[in-house]
Amino acid sequence: MNPKTAFLCVAVALVFNNCRTEPRRGPAASLPVAAPAAVTHPETGIALPPNYRETFTNYLSLDRVQNHDQIIRLFANDIAMQGPNERNELPFGSVIVAEVYKARVDGEGDIEVSSLGRRIRGPMALLAVMERGEHLGKGYREGLRNGHWDFAAFTPGGEIAGKDLNSCRACHSPLQATDHLFSLDHLSRK
Ligand code: HEC
Repeated sequence: MNPKTAFLCVAVALVFNNCRTEPRRGPAASLPVAAPAAVTHPETGIALPPNYRETFTNYLSLDRVQNHDQIIRLFANDIAMQGPNERNELPFGSVIVAEVYKARVDGEGDIEVSSLGRRIRGPMALLAVMERGEHLGKGYREGLRNGHWDFAAFTPGGEIAGKDLNSCRACHSPLQATDHLFSLDHLSRK
């Protein structure tokens, strides 16, 4: 823009407030964007909390103990972070999100480890969610019962992953002393 045009522009802008060198954006661009609706699992109605990365606490990250080629990162909401009561149960409303990752493999297909002897995170494979609620977890037969907990699984993109959650229930069910959680002892700010 030469100085003469610039001067004209300022003058016009002062009068009409519309002298722009960039195209004016449509009104839609300035409207607030609606928060994405939470995806809920069709079997249990348990949702993937949309902002768990910002609002939950990453209370534990480790090489998975029963899966030699995976890594897990665990996030708990503030209710779960209050920790267990005297019966060793978390409060209703507790939600835990587990990010499951494939471990990185080398050219031979062997699991790589860092100089710390730990696996190295590859791509995310699954988002596994557990929620504890007064009305959750009822009506399952022995061996699939997990107290008031129930489960959901999502793809890394937030879609429903696998509709059958009985494998989750069967593996967590025997852990009665720790409220059906493997990581209960890590859930406390105290
Ligand atoms: C064969 C056993 C097994 C199965 C099946 C399984 N889990 Fe787990 N889960 C574990 C173990 C072990 C941990 C502890 C962390 C680790 O080493 O992976 C865990 C941890 C979790 C946690 C963190 C809370 C806790 O218990 O410590 C969540 C949430 C979870 N699993 C959800 C799921 C969901 C959802 C499914 C089904 C899609 C599932 N799990 C299936 C064994 C299992």
